[in-house]
Parts: sequence; C-alpha cells; structure tokens
Amino acid sequence: MIQKSTLIDWITIYAQEISTNKEQLTALDAAIGDADHGINMDRGFTEVMQRMPSLREQDIGSFFKGVGMTLLSKVGGASGPLYGTLFLRMGMASGGKEELSLTELAAQLSAGVDGIRQRGSARPGDKTMIDALAPAIAALQEAADAGQETCQALEAAAAAAEAGMKATIPMQASKGRASYLGPRSIGHQDPGATSAWLLIKAAAQAACSAQ
Ligand SMILES: Nc1ncnc2c1ncn2[C@@H]1O[C@H](COP(=O)(O)OP(=O)(O)O)[C@@H](O)[C@H]1O
Ligand SMILES: [Mg+2]
Repeated sequence: MIQKSTLIDWITIYAQEISTNKEQLTALDAAIGDADHGINMDRGFTEVMQRMPSLREQDIGSFFKGVGMTLLSKVGGASGPLYGTLFLRMGMASGGKEELSLTELAAQLSAGVDGIRQRGSARPGDKTMIDALAPAIAALQEAADAGQETCQALEAAAAAAEAGMKATIPMQASKGRASYLGPRSIGHQDPGATSAWLLIKAAAQAACSAQ
C-alpha cells in the first residue's frame, strides 16, 4: 500500500524539482511560448508548500483537492488550471482514504489526466503535457495489472513519461500558445511535457525511497 506520507513526499519532492528546474522550464517556454512556465509552476508549488502544514493533516482526497485548489488560485496561464484540474480530480477520486493501493493510484492519476484532456481538449500528438502523461498512465496501469511493486511501476511510468516528453521535440504544436508558431514549434521540447515528466519522476522517487 502507498501511505499518505509517501504522497506528501511526492508533492514535496516535486516542489523542489520545480524550483531546481525553474530556469530550464522557462527557457523551454521562451522558445515556443512566453517564457513563464517555470515561473508559473514555481509560484504554484511554493504556495502549496506554504500550505503544507495544514494540507498534510487531511485525508488523501482533501490533500489532493487542496493542492489542486492552490494551483487553480495561484497559477496563471494554461498550466495552472490544467495541473489544478489534475490534482482536483485525483482528490475527488480518492475519497477519505489514508492509504492507496497501486491500482487506486493509477486510477486516480488516470481520472486526473482525463480531467486535463476534458479541460484543454488536447490529444496525444498535440505537443502538450498530455504527451508525457498519457503514456505514463498507460505504463502505470500495465505495471499495476502485472502486479509489480509500486517503486518499479512508477519507474516504468517515469520512463514512459520521459520518452513521451522527448517525442514532443519533432511535433508541431496544435494546442496552447506554441500552436501560434505553427511549423516553427517543431524541433523544441514542450515545457509542459517536461514538468509532467518531473511529476512522474518525483512520484517514483518518493515511492522508491519509502520501500
Ligand atoms: N490545451 C492544452 N492541453 C494540455 N496542455 C496544454 C494545453 N495548452 C497548453 N498546455 C501545456 O501548457 C504548457 C504551457 O504552460 P504555461 O507556459 O505555464 O502557460 P501559458 O501557455 O499560458 O503561458 C505547454 O507547454 C503545454 O504542455
Ligand atoms: Mg507560458
């Protein structure tokens, strides 16, 4: 089972990763957007960490909902509402639990990614965070169905997210700001797919150090 403390570690590690990679995410967005993705994400997760003392006292559902609401209220741009929706939907799918099975975590992430797809109407191949998240969820579900340990399953999901992120380089963007560039968006890695890979990698790190 995945304990609530591991999920708290996940978000804490991710907040650190975002802060460490803030400039890189912003540089990626400078190439095909408006140079604020790292700034947006860091603003949101700095606020999440400020609220962590009260968030961590809540059950898993309320914890994720609190993370989502914080991102929705603090982060501008496309990524705030989209990542906000991911965590809000995860929270709605988790109820009042204090621990999750790997299958439950995979189902929640899947519900969260469905929320992003509904809100942003991006499909795989549009050069967005979906290109990292969708293969990660598929790999996670496959690993969960195969009865793998949480650490290995999330490492497989992180590898799939990384491959999906790299696959955005040759894509032409058809959603978000990068789509305004048309064919000039080709040849650049999508910033949101990069922050999405960091998210799944942080989950693997939290789970693997908890075992
Ligand atoms: N409709 C969408 N669906 C999914 N992801 C999207 C969508 N539009 C943009 N994104 C993601 O958001 C990222 C940009 O985030 P950010 O720079 O923070 O917001 P903005 O584009 O408003 O400046 C993109 O790299 C892309 O991955
Ligand atoms: Mg931007």
